[in-house]
Amino acid sequence: MTMVSTPRLEVKNLSVTFTGVTVLKNAHLKLMPGEIHALVGQNGSGKSTLIKLISGVYKADSGGEVYVDGKRIGTPVHTASLHEQGLAFVHQDLGLVPDLTVRENVRVGRHATFGFTGMINKKKDARATREAFDFLGVDIKPETKVADLVPSERVAVAIARALQERNLGSGVIVFDESSRAIPPDALEEFYGHIRLLASQGTSVLFVSHNLREVLKIADRVTVLRNGSVVEMGAPTSDLDEAGITRLVLGKDGELGDYVRSMPSEIREGGFTLTNVAGGRAFGLSNTIRRGEVVGYTGNVDSGFSSVGPLIAGVHPGGGEIYVDSKKIKRPKHSSLPMVRAGVAFIPQDRHYLGLATELTVQENVTLPHLRTKGKPWWTGLAWQRRETETVLAKYEVTPPDRKAAVSTFSGGNQQKVLMGKWLLEQPAVLILDDPTQAVDVGARSAVLRAARQAAVDGSAVVLCSAEVDDLAAICDRIHIMEGGIVVRTLQQPMTADDILAATYDIAKGSIT
Ligand SMILES: Nc1ncnc2c1ncn2[C@@H]1O[C@H](COP(=O)(O)OP(=O)(O)OP(=O)(O)O)[C@@H](O)[C@H]1O
Ligand SMILES: [Mg+2]
Repeated sequence: MTMVSTPRLEVKNLSVTFTGVTVLKNAHLKLMPGEIHALVGQNGSGKSTLIKLISGVYKADSGGEVYVDGKRIGTPVHTASLHEQGLAFVHQDLGLVPDLTVRENVRVGRHATFGFTGMINKKKDARATREAFDFLGVDIKPETKVADLVPSERVAVAIARALQERNLGSGVIVFDESSRAIPPDALEEFYGHIRLLASQGTSVLFVSHNLREVLKIADRVTVLRNGSVVEMGAPTSDLDEAGITRLVLGKDGELGDYVRSMPSEIREGGFTLTNVAGGRAFGLSNTIRRGEVVGYTGNVDSGFSSVGPLIAGVHPGGGEIYVDSKKIKRPKHSSLPMVRAGVAFIPQDRHYLGLATELTVQENVTLPHLRTKGKPWWTGLAWQRRETETVLAKYEVTPPDRKAAVSTFSGGNQQKVLMGKWLLEQPAVLILDDPTQAVDVGARSAVLRAARQAAVDGSAVVLCSAEVDDLAAICDRIHIMEGGIVVRTLQQPMTADDILAATYDIAKGSIT
């Protein structure tokens, strides 16, 4: 016997056109009650756009239909009615106000008030906030400022806000790349929340580039390619990583062994660290020669994530740093001397450290080079245009529009622009901090290949990452950290499994 039930959420023929370009074409989506459904696709394929159409942030072209529990809701969807429809969203940036308290963030727009005066009833709000946390099994004080929370607590606040007052077993909650905001050690907890919600009957839609995660927690998967749904609701039990990759790219994916396919020659000079300390890392002494790719990795609390910003001079610290034997003076609050010495840094948080999102791609790409390449404006413009077009082509940025503001690009495409900006001129030192977290399976190999290419061309390259596949693909050696210091070094030949096993052994305390 087959059970026929009404879909919790059904989307038919949803399209949207921005300035003449159709970004989403007749998208379909069907979520059953209580299922965990993944939405995947390359950078710029339209995932966030689809979500923003359902949440009423964007207005769909006419002809689209959205149903919740079989009942049609009007398109364009009214943001104000989402809550009533049982639709909740945790957006990519979490959307919290750090200066406000947890209670204020959770209750914004729904404050309990005292009858006549309209004054906010803080006590009632605090109770509602606590109830929302009880469900998640977390204990966060409502009067804490969001700025003072650790990342996993911030995510809990965003989820609690999305979930409050929901009717048990109903509704849909949508996560747009939320797991990226969660530190690896809090991920299992997050998956636990998702599973709990689904087991009670709420439907979950989540966007992720991490195919391992998709296979692990999703029941079914819908794939967008270039604005069209190419697969709707395929059961993950029939798929593996290669299978999803093929659906996403429309061809087989490849994460090459770039160490062997792109051999590099060690050259004179490099990047030397002597007793560098800061953040959660200390005692860093190392020489990364030009032509070498060296990785730093470890478990979440090992201190490896402090290394990138520290050695790039973005975060202050002690010790000495040399570029080609020249000591770099590091003022406390400026990385300018590092930049001048030829140190390029691709930060994790591209919004705060890397790109001026309101400026165009061309402005972002050429700005750091104006000083060295600056020319009279007539030849200068031609140069800027040529170089920007090279970057757009090399990293397959979509759309290849150099005059578009960076803010209109999808997350992964912004990451590619950032890479291009720094690699335009061969840097002496290239430091990458978790560079593939926002990019799709196709762009990932482009980013890694570009990093390896920088070493082949003569840069000293440092990769700080928890992605063992990335490390094994491009690093000549890697340093594994624990308790803020390097405790073990692996050399090629090494596989992703070797790195995983070594990191795991160290965590267990059995350092070999
Ligand atoms: N407001 C806008 N104006 C113009 N173009 C836009 C706008 N918003 C999105 N786009 C374009 O729509 C396309 C789809 O973007 P979207 O953000 O949905 O991609 P995505 O699948 O979420 O990618 P990513 O994985 O990188 O986050 C992109 O080419 C993007 O440049
Ligand atoms: Mg997106």
